[in-house]
Amino acid sequence: MPDRPTPASRRTVLRGAAAAPLAGLGLAACGAPGNGASADATPTAPVELGAESEVAKGSAALYRDHNVVVSRAGDGGLKAYSTICTHAGCAINKLQGTTLICPCHGSEFDARTGKVVQAPATEPLNELSVKVVKGKIVAGPGA
Ligand code: FES
Repeated sequence: MPDRPTPASRRTVLRGAAAAPLAGLGLAACGAPGNGASADATPTAPVELGAESEVAKGSAALYRDHNVVVSRAGDGGLKAYSTICTHAGCAINKLQGTTLICPCHGSEFDARTGKVVQAPATEPLNELSVKVVKGKIVAGPGA
């Protein structure tokens, strides 16, 4: 006798398959604070981001994995900011030149100062400590 799934077990499998993609979309759409998505958080300890040479004078680099942007002024000084949007907590994933663009509602920030250049956000990005250790950029609280 062939082994057939019962109607109940087939329904269970289909329901599980349909729910999984929706859950994934929910997480990707917007990472508001408190949703448990650790990927959308400001570093709570110093993190190593990359080689110092990656950020030329007058430019900025976005480190999406750590939600940090680093910019270098004309005098060579580094600045680092959290890229968690101050409007509703989405992780900013786009850097055009030195302008950060939030995917959720379009706020824009200057990566050199952290200041808002386009609403709806009104508060600047949170500045992080930054330093260079053995040629690598390290940023975050206590760096
Ligand atoms: Fe960034 Fe709304 S969360 S613009």
